Amino acid sequence: MDQNILEVKEIGKSFEGTEVLRDITFQIEKGEFVAVMGRSGCGKSTLLYSISGMDDPTGGEVLFEGKRLAELPEKELEKLRLNRMGFIFQKANFLKNLSIEDNIIFPAFQSGQKSRQQIVKEAEALMERMGILSVADHDVRKVSGGQLQRAAICRAMINQPAILFGDEPTGALNSSATREVMDILEKIHQDGTTILLVTHDARVAARADRVIYLEDGRIKDECLLGKQEEKKSREKLLMEWLEKMGF
Ligand SMILES: Nc1ncnc2c1ncn2[C@@H]1O[C@H](COP(=O)(O)OP(=O)(O)O)[C@@H](O)[C@H]1O
Ligand SMILES: [Mg+2]
Repeated sequence: MDQNILEVKEIGKSFEGTEVLRDITFQIEKGEFVAVMGRSGCGKSTLLYSISGMDDPTGGEVLFEGKRLAELPEKELEKLRLNRMGFIFQKANFLKNLSIEDNIIFPAFQSGQKSRQQIVKEAEALMERMGILSVADHDVRKVSGGQLQRAAICRAMINQPAILFGDEPTGALNSSATREVMDILEKIHQDGTTILLVTHDARVAARADRVIYLEDGRIKDECLLGKQEEKKSREKLLMEWLEKMGF
């Protein structure tokens, strides 16, 4: 059990009596890269929120690093989310009166474990890796969508989370910016961070080790893409499977 970072056991989620997720069970191993796919409205975002402490499932349980999320006091859960989990969304939602760099370092100050000097050093190393160091002092309104999303990844990674959760992180990007962002996520994964993305983009999901297909709030099937196969053959495998899923 120790190698599982996340264990989701028979969770469900209802909004005012309407069932959106049902009987969802899966595990994520440490170091895995998993994508969740499915049509719009099938429950991908709801699933992500329900397993990452952003929202409570209506039934079942979620264990993160062996801890039952539902049993954690609010403060503990907040700390866990700040220090052990990173989040990226379709839009970065940066504070508009702060520079890119100040937005990125903000969660590290919230965490309060390092000196300003150390935090800035780590942020600049991250920005360099993501290719956005040159826009560190820019206003968030003055950079491209791709740069902003790479900055959002820096912000998500600043506290060195064990897992990175993404909800359609390339949903607002064109295909070249999507490729850039996915190349970066692939590197982060290679460096040991576990990744769980929900997406309706097959090119994005093709980067994962494993893809879970969600339909009407249930897991329909999963597809193992493996690590060593050629990119082209992974994409082909995934496309054939998605066709079978009726995507
Ligand atoms: N806060 C909410 N209240 C009521 N219904 C919701 C809420 N959030 C999501 N839903 C419903 O749950 C279903 C799944 O939504 P969502 O998880 O956003 O799907 P996806 O991310 O796959 O597009 C949709 O039918 C949506 O209308
Ligand atoms: Mg969604």
